[in-house]
Amino acid sequence: MRINPETVERIKQAADIVEVVGDFVSLKKKGANYGACCPFHNEKTPSFNVNPVRQIYKCFGCGAAGDSIKFVMDIDGIGYGEALRYLAGKYNIEIEEEELTDEETIRQNVRESLYIILNYAKNYYQHQLHNSDEGQAIGLSYFRERGFTNEIRKKFELGYSLDNWDAFSKEALEKGYSAEILEKAGLLIHKEGSHTAGYDRFRGRVIFPIHNVAGKTIAFGARILKSDKNQPKYLNSPETEVYHKSEVLYGIYQAKNAIRSLEHCYLVEGYTDVISLHQAGIENVVASSGTSLTVEQIRLIGRFTPNVTILYDGDMAGIKAALRGLDLVLEEGLNVNVVLFPDNEDPDSYVRRVGAEAFKEHLKKASKDFITFKTEILLQDAGNDPFRLAAVIQEVVNSIVKIPDAIKRQVFFHRTSEMMRVDEQMLITEGNKLLRKQQTAKSNERPPRQPNGGQQSSSGQGGFVPDGPDDLDTLFSDGFGPFAGEPDGNPFVPEEVAPETFQRTKLHYQEEAFVRLLVVHGARELEPTITVCQYVLGQIEGIELKDPVYSHLLNLFRENFNRNNVLTTDYFLQHSEVEIRNLTIEWLTQKHELSELWKEKYEIYVPFETDVLDRTAFNNILRLKKAFIEEKMKVCLKQAVHAQTEEEQHAIMTEYMFYKGISMAAAKELGSVIG
Ligand code: UTP
Ligand code: MN
Repeated sequence: MRINPETVERIKQAADIVEVVGDFVSLKKKGANYGACCPFHNEKTPSFNVNPVRQIYKCFGCGAAGDSIKFVMDIDGIGYGEALRYLAGKYNIEIEEEELTDEETIRQNVRESLYIILNYAKNYYQHQLHNSDEGQAIGLSYFRERGFTNEIRKKFELGYSLDNWDAFSKEALEKGYSAEILEKAGLLIHKEGSHTAGYDRFRGRVIFPIHNVAGKTIAFGARILKSDKNQPKYLNSPETEVYHKSEVLYGIYQAKNAIRSLEHCYLVEGYTDVISLHQAGIENVVASSGTSLTVEQIRLIGRFTPNVTILYDGDMAGIKAALRGLDLVLEEGLNVNVVLFPDNEDPDSYVRRVGAEAFKEHLKKASKDFITFKTEILLQDAGNDPFRLAAVIQEVVNSIVKIPDAIKRQVFFHRTSEMMRVDEQMLITEGNKLLRKQQTAKSNERPPRQPNGGQQSSSGQGGFVPDGPDDLDTLFSDGFGPFAGEPDGNPFVPEEVAPETFQRTKLHYQEEAFVRLLVVHGARELEPTITVCQYVLGQIEGIELKDPVYSHLLNLFRENFNRNNVLTTDYFLQHSEVEIRNLTIEWLTQKHELSELWKEKYEIYVPFETDVLDRTAFNNILRLKKAFIEEKMKVCLKQAVHAQTEEEQHAIMTEYMFYKGISMAAAKELGSVIG
């Protein structure tokens, strides 16, 4: 069953953002809005804002944003359906459900059955560990030997699978679970053509249940206890309908609160590393479980914090091989640090050897930011060989340009230029070349948006209004759901982006400010019967915007206006395209006190007070026109250089002076007279 759209609509209407958020944090009125310390990250000065008119919230610190439903989902770590039920309860709304299509029902039923059988299996293995003779003698004594306490075994729900071909499946089948679902869950292996139901996948191993963010068991890792060269040390569940290995981090359920409140996540390799560190009091730790990191895993971390420290064990060769892959983490806008452990030690063995305090000390002392770390390692390798040095420079610059935040890039250009003893400007030039390449590659895929490139997620779903089936508590286990591309994809990169980021031209900023004016204020009346939209459109007839998305938005306004229809902000908040919804939220909540530098450099005046709106609208138009003219002037100058004849040159310069006249007039009008 799924909650029907009418009920969803009723819930949305009833659920007042101020009330809903107010149940969890204490809000203080701040002008028309409400403020508080953000419940999603640790902070002392409040940067969390609730807008009762728009019914949205946004944190300027961590970027968390959305509507009532998203708030409940995130604060409780529950799914869309569950959040709706919570709100329906709060507002006494009766939930009407509708039938799923057959296919949906089957899928949902399969998933639900999988969760049930996996939960059953988890309990079974736990029971065997603590209650069977074999479990106690072999499994329990093994965990005790490793120093895992009773408490920690419970926390991670560790278990034991008997050394027997079908002990588990026999019992499960007797309990009424079908062989088919056992097989789908990865617990039973059935050989084609065999007459028996099959045999247990996990036999004679200690069991590490793998949980999704919401705490449901979705898979198992199982460690062998005897040494057998023919058997893998760890046997893991296969991919199933609820377990997609590349999207899962071991320990995320147990770690998420600590990660959130400490604003930091440690990333290790193994199950036992996670568990040992928890036992040592370090709870903000997850494991990639032996695979190389995937984008999905990185985004999962990014939902909780932008700060990751990777704890590397293993040999240099392995580490070097892993370095390239880490550019991915940079690309996602995370701040990456690295800690190395002595040879032949992993975090688990190291913490057991030196104790919790010394371990924490090591984390502090040995922690290096990723770029510095990478540069050092590559430099050591290259020695004095100039060719190899050049390759190192390329490699490092390559990583730096993956960082979406321009200011951070600058810092790293500076730092690495000192480390490599090369000219900083040279690095920047190299970097810009790569950035430009990156940019063209990207703009061929998608229009440029925010300057901090990592904004878009390709996850396809997104936004804060999930419209998928009401089976979204699996959201956290699979695909990490609608929010893989958070409302502003990359919440941790501060909004103040260095203006010199060349990816966005002044014109682009102007275009944005202009479209934003239409989207946010378009439906407002300047005078009775004259809307901002009407006024603005009338002033810019014939002008097309360069950015494809802005241009699309402008044309939407035009088309609708021709049909006597003025598009409202709500229209864009409900738009079917997530990118547009997100842009709208961004524009509604954007901090308009852009840095002074920005204002000066780009002359962007961002309107906010509605009483000065008409002047604002006018100024915006002027600015847009001025920016267009200036683009034209630039083109003239370029042409002038290449002019073949004096006549041609003269014609171009005349045109240039003509534009210059307009531009100066516009500047004067704007009160920003330039020399
Ligand atoms: P390790 O071999 O480093 O194991 O593999 P570990 O975590 O230190 O385990 P102990 O201390 O020997 O018990 C790291 C991770 O790689 C995955 C597991 O997730 C493991 O925790 N792995 C390793 C496998 O999936 N299969 C294997 O055969 C080996
Ligand atoms: Mn180990």
